[in-house]
Amino acid sequence: MEIQINNLNKSFDGKKVLKGIDLNLKPNMSNIILGKSGCGKSVLIKLIYKLIKQDSGIITYNSKEEVDINKFAMLFQYGALFDSLKVWENIAFQFINEKLKPISQLKEEVLDIMFNLGLDSENIDKYPSELSGGMKKRVALGRALFKKPDVIFLDEPTTGLDPLNGELINDLIVKVIKEKKITAITITHDIKSALKTGDQFYYLEDGIIEVSEKCENLLKTQNSKLNSFLKGQV
Ligand SMILES: Nc1ncnc2c1ncn2[C@@H]1O[C@H](COP(=O)(O)OP(=O)(O)OP(=O)(O)O)[C@@H](O)[C@H]1O
Ligand SMILES: [Mg+2]
Repeated sequence: MEIQINNLNKSFDGKKVLKGIDLNLKPNMSNIILGKSGCGKSVLIKLIYKLIKQDSGIITYNSKEEVDINKFAMLFQYGALFDSLKVWENIAFQFINEKLKPISQLKEEVLDIMFNLGLDSENIDKYPSELSGGMKKRVALGRALFKKPDVIFLDEPTTGLDPLNGELINDLIVKVIKEKKITAITITHDIKSALKTGDQFYYLEDGIIEVSEKCENLLKTQNSKLNSFLKGQV
């Protein structure tokens, strides 16, 4: 799905957070949103996801303002698994409630996703408390992927993981978005992750997109604001 954003504005209590954002998120690409804490990254993805409404400006999805938000999936920062549900129930959660498919079929599909994410099938009936942090993150990613989204939003996908598990999650993200042709929109503070998983990055400061470039050019930037941001991240 291609997402086009024109002159997007959003204020809270008279304070302007986004001041005319222009963005073109290309289909099947991995897009990274960078910026300091509080600059409006989460607000921006909530607007794209239609969780909140802009003050002005237009967002189009494949050239239309209407969009089926069932085509979107979000990986929340802390995974947000249900402690009282088993792994497979967490992954198929939305579909169990809707009762559209028999349980046996859902479980087959869950096993397929688990295999893709490197989660051993013996974990299917475990509860989140029995899993490691990295495994929980995979289960959360599994839930986001289960609905076969066109667009996946990832808010700090490697936060809280050790470097090794962070690398594993990054590798998985790259694999699934390329294999399944998903448009990914990732917020991260982690420059290494951005370089590894991203095609294009957008640096947000003072309510506008200050830099929009290919990720391979991130460290070569001449932009002084982005440079001082990068220095602060190491
Ligand atoms: N619902 C809200 N009501 C009032 N102010 C809000 C609301 N949501 C966000 N803000 C304000 O908008 C600004 C941007 O917030 P946002 O959550 O997008 O930051 P962020 O870039 O995601 O930061 P972080 O990296 O810390 O997650 C902040 O000043 C925040 O206080
Ligand atoms: Mg945020």
